[in-house]
Amino acid sequence: MAGPVEQPWDAIILGAGAAGMMCAAVAGQRGRRVLLADHADAPGKKILISGGGRCNFTNIHTAADRYLSANPHFAKSALGRYSAQDFLALVDRHGIAWHEKTLGQLFCDGSAKQIVAMLQAECDKGGVAMALGAGITGVDHGEGLYRVTLGDREHRAPALVLATGGPSIPKLGATGFAYDVARRFGLSVVQPRPALVPFTLGPDDALFQSLSGVSADVVVRWGKTRFREAALFTHRGLSGPAMLQISSYWQHRTPIQVDFLPDRAADWLLEEKRVRPRAQLRKLLGQALPERLADALLERAGVQGELGALSDKALRQLGARLADWPFTPSGTEGYAKAEVTVGGIATAGLSSRTMEAAKAPGLYAIGEAVDVTGWLGGYNFQWAWASGWAAGQAI
Ligand code: FDA
Repeated sequence: MAGPVEQPWDAIILGAGAAGMMCAAVAGQRGRRVLLADHADAPGKKILISGGGRCNFTNIHTAADRYLSANPHFAKSALGRYSAQDFLALVDRHGIAWHEKTLGQLFCDGSAKQIVAMLQAECDKGGVAMALGAGITGVDHGEGLYRVTLGDREHRAPALVLATGGPSIPKLGATGFAYDVARRFGLSVVQPRPALVPFTLGPDDALFQSLSGVSADVVVRWGKTRFREAALFTHRGLSGPAMLQISSYWQHRTPIQVDFLPDRAADWLLEEKRVRPRAQLRKLLGQALPERLADALLERAGVQGELGALSDKALRQLGARLADWPFTPSGTEGYAKAEVTVGGIATAGLSSRTMEAAKAPGLYAIGEAVDVTGWLGGYNFQWAWASGWAAGQAI
């Protein structure tokens, strides 16, 4: 049995990450007495390491179709009510300088620390109490109140918000805690798996592992989903933004297709043959792609020589293969390297307006813990802010 019972709070929020801090600040500033608890000794640790230390805090192209979820419509309401522009206005109010890097991705000019400091200041403004560095040893419900045991103290509130994120990067303190609590209160969980994660390649593709460090602008495709971004070969397999993006969609034992020359017409090799029959294929491809990559692709395709000495059929086949090169990853680098988790607390049991669980009134789930996962590029933080804001308005 826990020790002293603390004053009843209006809401207890578990997880002082992106979503939990936003939710706490919003509810606190509405006059709610909020306790924000985390087993880490400081808030926002993932924010600090995000975007290479500069935090890609939102994306100006945010829209629900850039998120994966069993219910693709679920995120619309929250994303519509708290937009990228709303978060940007907050960033501007705090005088944080930012820039657009590429594809609508907004980063701090300075440091991700500024985003954590901003959220901390917003929490302070709302009088949010923080309980950091204490494990959550119990979560219960009775007599209309949620009871949370932190260390040797029990706290009670009519509202409990699950904001402990997903299990990606366990060495930063990430856990599947939210899923366990959700299940205990009758919610279902969509099978979680690592996402925005590098692929590993098997022994058949050892040739490509020797290209570690080589990158190329590609179109990568899995089924009907495609991304045009950089791909990077690593000593274990494939990484870079293109591969991270497609990894969120990929299913085990299926191939991904890579177009290494997305700007070339289908018959470009035949055209080159007509214009430069004496040109070496190796040299030609080495001008269009990093040389080591060009060599590896030609070695694997088993085609060499002068263009004029190669048949039209062979060149057509090679062009088609370079535009649709199949890799079947042996797996991914798993939660240790995944930026996010796909799956999580099923949206079917949650209100899209408030994030409250239908089966457990007063229980809310926000952020990455929920089965809503964004593309790479600031979309995941925008979901954390928007879902945190929605619950913060409701608790
Ligand atoms: P978040 O993980 O932020 O917070 C959860 C909190 O709960 C943590 O403070 C944790 O300590 C706490 N917690 C967990 N288990 C607990 C337990 N059992 N008891 C108590 N507390 C517990 N996204 C993006 O949009 N732009 C970017 O630039 C990046 N970059 C990036 C880089 C790297 C390396 C990673 C790993 C991830 C990103 N992301 C990102 C993803 C982004 O960090 C992520 O989607 C959000 O942090 C999710 O916010 P949440 O608040 O839901 O979880």
